[in-house]
Amino acid sequence: MDTNYKINLSIVFFMFCSLATFAQPALNDQQIEQKVDALLKKMTLREKVGQLNQLKGNYSTDIYEQNIDLNEAIKRGEVGALTPYTNLDQMRKWQELAVDSSRLGIPMLYGADVIHGYRTIFPAPIGQASSWDMKKIQNAERIAAVEATAAGLMWNFTPMLDIARDPRWGRVMEGGGEDPYLVSQIARARVRGIQGDDLSKPNTMMATAKHFAAYGRAEGGQEYNSTEVSERTLREIYLPPFKAAQEEGIACMMNGFNAINGIPATANEFLLKQVLRKEWKFKGFMVSDANSIYELIPHGYAANKKEAAYKAFTAGSDTDLWANVYMEYLPELVKEGYIDEKDIDASVRKILIYKYKMGLFDHPYQYFNKKRFKKEIFTKAHKQASLELAEESMVLLKNENQTLPITKKAKKIALMGPLVNSREFKDLIGNWTGFSKPEDAIMLDQGFKDVKAKDQEIIFSQACEAWGKCPDALMDEAVEIAKKSDFIVLALGEQGYNSGECGSRADITLPGNQEELIERIAALNKPFAVLVMAGRPMVLTSVIDKIPALLYCWQPGTMAGEAIANLVFGKKSPSAKLPMTLPYALGQVPIYYNKLSSGRPKLDPKDKRWGLNSWSDVPNEPLFAFGHGLTYSKFEYGPLKVNKTTFGPEDTLEVSCTVKNTGNYDTDEITQLYIRDIAASVARPVKELKGFERFSLKKGEQKEVKFTLTLDDLKYWNDKMNFDVEDGTFRIMVGPASDNVQEVTVELKGYKSFFSKNVQ
Ligand code: BGC
Repeated sequence: MDTNYKINLSIVFFMFCSLATFAQPALNDQQIEQKVDALLKKMTLREKVGQLNQLKGNYSTDIYEQNIDLNEAIKRGEVGALTPYTNLDQMRKWQELAVDSSRLGIPMLYGADVIHGYRTIFPAPIGQASSWDMKKIQNAERIAAVEATAAGLMWNFTPMLDIARDPRWGRVMEGGGEDPYLVSQIARARVRGIQGDDLSKPNTMMATAKHFAAYGRAEGGQEYNSTEVSERTLREIYLPPFKAAQEEGIACMMNGFNAINGIPATANEFLLKQVLRKEWKFKGFMVSDANSIYELIPHGYAANKKEAAYKAFTAGSDTDLWANVYMEYLPELVKEGYIDEKDIDASVRKILIYKYKMGLFDHPYQYFNKKRFKKEIFTKAHKQASLELAEESMVLLKNENQTLPITKKAKKIALMGPLVNSREFKDLIGNWTGFSKPEDAIMLDQGFKDVKAKDQEIIFSQACEAWGKCPDALMDEAVEIAKKSDFIVLALGEQGYNSGECGSRADITLPGNQEELIERIAALNKPFAVLVMAGRPMVLTSVIDKIPALLYCWQPGTMAGEAIANLVFGKKSPSAKLPMTLPYALGQVPIYYNKLSSGRPKLDPKDKRWGLNSWSDVPNEPLFAFGHGLTYSKFEYGPLKVNKTTFGPEDTLEVSCTVKNTGNYDTDEITQLYIRDIAASVARPVKELKGFERFSLKKGEQKEVKFTLTLDDLKYWNDKMNFDVEDGTFRIMVGPASDNVQEVTVELKGYKSFFSKNVQ
């Protein structure tokens, strides 16, 4: 029973009851199982399949033109979950239909994409990843969950955990970049933030790890494209973040749209049964991606909807997001004997267990609380958290002669470029922000006005278009303004909608005539800085030498203008580091730091000899490497120390070095630890991230940064596809970026030697 019904009782009794209602201990697993058993016995086959059916609340007709009368379907018990896209009143009405007017009164789940905040928008996930700050990322998700649950949602289609090595892919903005270790840590933080410690609380919600799996490897970075990936690379690079989410107790995973080695992820038995259920023992449920069960037909993997339903279900996709194909065909498939009803029961069981865990049967309306909706969304504290994470998310890639921060000496500051004040295309808040209000976001012009010193003047100019060519007069005018200014800031990049789903681009240079603007401003020989707003790493090589200072802002969210101004005017120092490589040339893509060596490695970038693993026209190195990022301060690294240079399988290797802030700013540093297994049963990457620490140091302060490594940290998928390691030499590397490390070598002995393994 919902607390609302107790209103007519005395105040004391009311308080007692409401406290008791929410303080009531959640059901334990055994009690839940018993309830689910009992309920399953009462359900008809159609009602069971109804639990596996998720529809959209805003249209009764979807893109595949199915006419579904939503209200009637709910009353028949044929809608297990809804993606609502509407207000609390309507959401409550639909839930009332499910609870009061369907035969068994099973409440529905409401799920949607709250990718980087509900209404208070945090930086795009790729920006959040640049902070390497797990506490703040967790907190951002906590806040997003508080807001989303106050708005009636109880299931979040996030976190997106696709590793991406190709910046042409638009969905790079939704993920944590290229590294499996970093993204795994982020996965854990996000799941903790969204689900909290108890799903039955009214402000926690179920999380969804997506897109399972290897969607980020879409060939050529083209949206929805297929993926070819070896099992080893799949397991080492693409799967670990999902495993981490599973270990954190995530409730749900979502399929990818891609085919993997010819088999669409939605019907991929190897992934869904072998890996997820058999090996990982995942207990949550697997939802398809939007219409992805139907899409088995255009994939060429099913001849019709019935075959699509059969293949997706028997491969292990529990629920159908928006295609209504399960509802149409699973009952028939059971009756005809193609599918065993017990298997339907097994999938329904997973859904019902979560409905119980969330307390939905007792409190089906607990998420439709208007008081919470008014009080808990877009609060001052939430905006402050968004501001702090935004400040930590922007990467200072270049800062020649300390061009930034802008000093008080600069009296006239020109702020120009198409992204100075652009709400329409969500350039500063980014894609996947459907619940935000464009007017909420602080644009750059506002932020600069608020943060500048009193005697500083800011002059604005659009200067050029973000997309397409601009009239000459617009740029001429901007150049004239720049000539009269002491400092120029260019706000450039991509529009919000240029990345995200269907935001793949074959050309990832600055669009329109933004490069021309940089050239014309550079020709004035005045100090200037470029801000790049983008949902992906871009290729900036042709202009980089002309840019004295470059702050890579990604899409900073609601507080964008203020956060950027705080960094540009030096109220705070930038402190972020790249979670994804910025290529030197598009032809280098896919490019990532943890590549394999080759038989002819080019060890010295200056080595021009023929016959090395290299490009003949561009360098091997990226423009900016994974892990790179500057601050306004300076950090000096002391010598790298290890507690032992030879260690056995039971030993713990302790790695440490001192880091000293020798500059003039109090700020944070992010120290990274990489390893390389020098010779193994399969070739190993030249570097693999195995640890990092973000910490604050006041100017003059120093700290001993310590990491520990055990045997498990060295393991990899070996020649027999076992997760293991052999004795041998390992390079341990520590530093401020993947291309700036000190190293020591250590020897693993006494575990498994190559010769004893092979000559027995
Ligand atoms: C996306 C998913 C998303 C779903 C529902 C799909 O197009 O791939 O990431 O959760 O739509 O909005």
